Amino acid sequence: MTEIAWWKRGIVYQIYPRSFQDSNNDGIGDLEGVRQRLDYLVWLGVDAIWLSPIFVSPMADFGYDVADYRAIDPIFGTLEDFDDLLADVHKRGLKLILDFVPNHTSVVHPWFLDSRASRDNAKRDWYIWRDPAPDGGPPNNWLSNFGGPAWTLDGASGQYYYHAFLSQQPDLNWRNLAVRDAMYDILRFWLDRGVDGFRVDVIWHLIKDDAFRDNPPNPAYDSKQAEINRYLQVHSADQADVHDVVAEMRNVIDTYPDRVLIGEIYLPLERLVTYYGNGLAGAHLPFNFQLIHTAWNAREIASLIHDYEIALPEGGWPNWVLGNHDQPRIGARVGQDQARLAAMLLLTLRGTPTLYYGDEIGLNKIEIAPELVQDPWEKNEPGLGLGRDPERTPMQWDSSHYAGFSKVEPWLPLGLSSSSCNVAALREIPRSILNLYRRLVDVRRKHLALSVGDYAQLAVSSAQVLAYEREFGADRHVVVLNFGHCDCEVALPQTESPRCILLSTCLDRDGEPIGRILKLRPHEGVIVAYG
Ligand code: NOJ
Repeated sequence: MTEIAWWKRGIVYQIYPRSFQDSNNDGIGDLEGVRQRLDYLVWLGVDAIWLSPIFVSPMADFGYDVADYRAIDPIFGTLEDFDDLLADVHKRGLKLILDFVPNHTSVVHPWFLDSRASRDNAKRDWYIWRDPAPDGGPPNNWLSNFGGPAWTLDGASGQYYYHAFLSQQPDLNWRNLAVRDAMYDILRFWLDRGVDGFRVDVIWHLIKDDAFRDNPPNPAYDSKQAEINRYLQVHSADQADVHDVVAEMRNVIDTYPDRVLIGEIYLPLERLVTYYGNGLAGAHLPFNFQLIHTAWNAREIASLIHDYEIALPEGGWPNWVLGNHDQPRIGARVGQDQARLAAMLLLTLRGTPTLYYGDEIGLNKIEIAPELVQDPWEKNEPGLGLGRDPERTPMQWDSSHYAGFSKVEPWLPLGLSSSSCNVAALREIPRSILNLYRRLVDVRRKHLALSVGDYAQLAVSSAQVLAYEREFGADRHVVVLNFGHCDCEVALPQTESPRCILLSTCLDRDGEPIGRILKLRPHEGVIVAYG
């Protein structure tokens, strides 16, 4: 067991720090708050925490606009708070993964202030500056991921700077080796403090076409989509040279024992897997977001898993993500009943699962009134349903006024159901989604077949049912998931060994012996133990 790396057999739990626990009653979560809730994470059974950015930032994009990579934003605490948190994380046998945001800085980062000071400043080339097009407009047709042009004119120098996101987030020029060195030093700064790895923000964006060619139009675009989809991002991201950068980051990580490099990558499967790098010298885990975008039915999910397994390079370790701070919550996407099934799927697939805080208590879509909107994307492109506030609302701990998150009004509203949808209440309900998550985590930890074992889809899978086998040595389990709204029956593979239900998403069939035919209720998933 010890020879299997922690990031392969472990479960990652993402915390959005603004929304986990407020310890100083300013309505915003902080590091001390996270520290106070570590025992909960131990109870839940996860292995590693990934913290969304906690660095000094004007918060134009809530921390994804960093003004000082080596200091903690006062909203979240101090470097000392960070060290205390890290020590307590490690004391509990957990790991801590930081969010590294190398593609862009804040517009108030000292590097950018220097860079925009004049055309001949030593840091000018640390960012991406271009002359206007002949008509005085932007240098090319690249768009911001948050709507509008990706180029902003700096009146003083007469040049445009490039920003793949907000104009307050200028892109660094990763073709400049001095930028790379400075950023790798930052990685070392945190690795020296003891962090266990990084999730690297928009890693596929780091290198852009060096000729800055226009992106081609997207024939499938319609105006109900985010504006970024107007063009295919052929030249503005996912360039061949990016893999050199990823490999260099990996080299830095590898000079420290047992650390992990995770890359945020929204690309089709065949492009995604290139981020494992030649000879697996790239990211350990290029985040696999395919479950978020695949149609939620047994057939589509079955072929997704199959295609992903086939696409993985030899030795490349799989991973699965159900949700994060940029995506509608799983409950909002598939409904509360299927969210339980999704939990079983996530925690029984081969590869490292990442859980998003709050999914384990069934946090659902929370409508944000227009006057309460915080997300800059929703402000830029209102009414298209792009806003990310609904998945960033405070964690709900108990039935007190602000759900135990804070004693004052939180920065985003709580869910309407916070009096019943909270950790304290759900812990007491044996069949709650929280107890389902905890049981799944426990079963996964106890049975290596379910985490690192081989995966084989079973032929009994159908339009309604996905069934697969997980096997590690003599440890063998079959997972059967009913994606349908009706009862169903499934004929299990023939076996000599007696079998029984280890766990059902309904949490009421433990130990039930079964014969060849397994009956499932609507939305029910079960793990069957063999042997
Ligand atoms: C991806 C992050 O997950 C998202 O929250 C952020 O807005 C963009 N990158 C820009 O950093």
